[in-house]
Amino acid sequence: MAEEIRKVGVVGLGAMGAGIAQLCVEAGVETVGREVSAELGENARDRIGHFLTRKVEKAQMDQAARDAAVGRLSLTTDLAGLADCDLVIEAIVEELGPKQELFAELERICRPDAVLATNTSALSVTEIASRVASPGRVVGMHFFNPAPLMPLVEIVRAELSSDDAFETAYAFGALLGKHPIRCNDTPGFVVNRILIPLLNDCVRTLDEARVTVEDLDAGMKHGAGWPMGPCELLDLVGIDVHVHASEALWDKLREPRMAPPARLVAMANAGLYGRKSGRGFYTYG
Ligand code: 3HC
Repeated sequence: MAEEIRKVGVVGLGAMGAGIAQLCVEAGVETVGREVSAELGENARDRIGHFLTRKVEKAQMDQAARDAAVGRLSLTTDLAGLADCDLVIEAIVEELGPKQELFAELERICRPDAVLATNTSALSVTEIASRVASPGRVVGMHFFNPAPLMPLVEIVRAELSSDDAFETAYAFGALLGKHPIRCNDTPGFVVNRILIPLLNDCVRTLDEARVTVEDLDAGMKHGAGWPMGPCELLDLVGIDVHVHASEALWDKLREPRMAPPARLVAMANAGLYGRKSGRGFYTYG
C-alpha cells in the first residue's frame, strides 16, 4: 500500500463527501473532489469555503491557512482525475449497484497500491468490494454527520481487507484529527447498529406516548444528555437517509426495531427530508 497518503480523492461531494474533503484539506492533504457536474462540485467548494471562513471569523484559523486549505481542493467530473491518488473515499448514493460499479471503475483507474474506502453507513463493505479483482485494498471509513464536527470514524475491515489497507485507513483517520475505531463488516458496524433502532424507538415513542416532537427532543436532551433531540438529529441526518439505512439493517437482521417506523416512511415519501428540504419534524427558514 502507499507508504504515505499525499493525495486523496473523494467521490461524491454531498453533505458527507464535502465534509470529508474539508477534513482532508484542513489536514494539509491535496484533495481531488469528483462530482457528476461542475456545478455540484463548485457548490461543495463554496460550502467548504463558507465553513472555513466561519473558522477565520471565530479566530479558529487564520486567513492564510484558510486560503491554503481551499487551494488544496481541486475538482473533477472525470474519475480519471483520481488516477494518482493514494486513497479514494467514496461518498456517493447509498445503493449497492452504483457503488459496486464505481469500485470496479476505481480499480481500473487508480494505482494498484491505492486504498479504496467507502463511507457507506449501512451497506456491506464486502459486497461493495465483490466486483473488485483485488478486494484486499477495499475498506470502510465511516464518518458521522456533520463530518467536520463529529470526532468518530469507524474503520471497517471487510472479509478480504488486507491488514495494510486497514491500518493505512486507520492512520489516515487519526491524521484527520478523528478518533478512529476498528470494527468489522457487520450490519450497521458499531454506532448505526445501536443508533438506528434507537432513533426508530424514539419515533415510535412519539405515537405511543402521545408527546410532542419538542417534548420528545427536550426529554432526550435534558434527561439523557443528548447534544440534540432525536427529531432534530433525524432532520440533520435526513429522513430519507435514515429510512434507507434502516431498511438496509432490517433487510440484514430482520429485527422489528430495525424496520423504519411508518411515520418516517410517510415523511420520506412526502419529501419531508429534514434540513435539506426545508421541512422534516421542524421547518427551516
Ligand atoms: N460542516 C462543516 N462545519 C459545520 C457544519 C457542517 N455540516 N455544521 C456546522 N458547522 C460549523 C459551523 O461553522 C458552526 O459555527 P457557526 O454556526 O458559528 O457558523 C460550527 O460548526 C459549530 O456548529 P454548531 O454551533 O451547530 O455546533 P454545536 O456545538 O451546536 O454542535 C453538533 C453541533 C456537533 C452537530 C452537535 O449538536 C451534535 O453532536 N449533534 C449530534 C450529531 C450526531 O449524533 N451525529 C451523528 C448522526 S448519525 C450518522 O451520521 C451516521 C450516518 O451513517 C447516518
